[in-house]
Amino acid sequence: MIKVAFYDTREYDKPSFERYSEQKDMEFRFLETKLNEDTVELARGCNAVCVFVNDTVNAAVIDRLYEMGVRLIALRSAGYNNVDVQAAFGKIHVVHVPAYSPYAVAEHAIALLLTSVRRIHKAYNRTREFNFSLNGLTGFDFHGKTVGVIGTGKIGRIFMDICRGFGMHVIAYDRFPSPDSGIDYVSLDELFQRSDIISLHCPLTDETRHMINASSIARMKKGVVIVNTSRGGLIDAEALLQGIKARKVGAACLDVYEEESDVFFEDRSGHILNDDLLSRLISMPNVIVTSHQAFLTEEALNNIAETSVANILSCFEKDGICDNELCYRCGNIERCKKERKERCF
Ligand code: NAI
Repeated sequence: MIKVAFYDTREYDKPSFERYSEQKDMEFRFLETKLNEDTVELARGCNAVCVFVNDTVNAAVIDRLYEMGVRLIALRSAGYNNVDVQAAFGKIHVVHVPAYSPYAVAEHAIALLLTSVRRIHKAYNRTREFNFSLNGLTGFDFHGKTVGVIGTGKIGRIFMDICRGFGMHVIAYDRFPSPDSGIDYVSLDELFQRSDIISLHCPLTDETRHMINASSIARMKKGVVIVNTSRGGLIDAEALLQGIKARKVGAACLDVYEEESDVFFEDRSGHILNDDLLSRLISMPNVIVTSHQAFLTEEALNNIAETSVANILSCFEKDGICDNELCYRCGNIERCKKERKERCF
């Protein structure tokens, strides 16, 4: 029996995971707490842990898990910036769900953008109180505007296709541009200067952390709309706030926030929020915040559960290759064992 400690369990996680694991030799221990150095003991007796975006899987946690006999970290997300993959190498295999519904995230980015630009959130509140005034609700046409997309992977490309449908000019920056893709790649600097809307779809790495900062905002068009459905750390939130206060940034649509881990996914209504920066951003009339919700569709939840269960089973098969394994050597032609159809270690 494969026993899996399932950290940071939400109400919406259980049904899909139980459905896909029902017929398998697998048991989930659903835990509401997040994984960190204080909660790692709760995985005692389990062979695997299943974690999400705000669990802390650093070297200390990995060492503790290893001592306790845990041999697999199964991320139920695509992003893995919260896992020290290098520290895990040689000890615990790490797997993720590379694509569960890029449509869910791209469509959420568009939903935020339309809501913000056409002031739907304001109109919704007004008409509920029978306030039918249109004052302050003027938006702008998407048609003919330039949208700059940073990161042209699975989600970025779907987002670009939707934008083309609106008749927008789409330009993009990617650290690893795809040749022959027909994408109009420009430098990051040119993207900042030309875009009416900027949408972030690249991973959080040392290189991309705070790529939206005071200096990049200074180079943007006045009134630029910034959309982030990727990772909070891509934006220096203090610089964003200053950009909004200076009327340089016209609007911000944020599904992620750098310090989200203690706040997002929780009901904090009735509590005093300790994060002054987040409170200030939320109080701005031109900022929309959703709490890391972009992935949350029926299709995505089913795909996450189905792939995670398959990933876990494949890793406990004797000598089998772990499906969707991540290691810091993966992709490195010289050193990558997976490319030679072997286990990473
Ligand atoms: P992907 O791996 O298909 O695409 C990422 C793209 O970013 C690639 O084209 C890559 O070359 C590019 N990239 C890498 N380093 C870069 C850099 N320094 N500058 C510019 N581009 C760079 O990933 P996918 O599936 O499109 O996901 C994108 C991001 O969306 C993920 O990293 C994750 O953080 C975020 N995400 C957010 C979700 C949410 O619920 N808000 C759900 C799923 C993913």
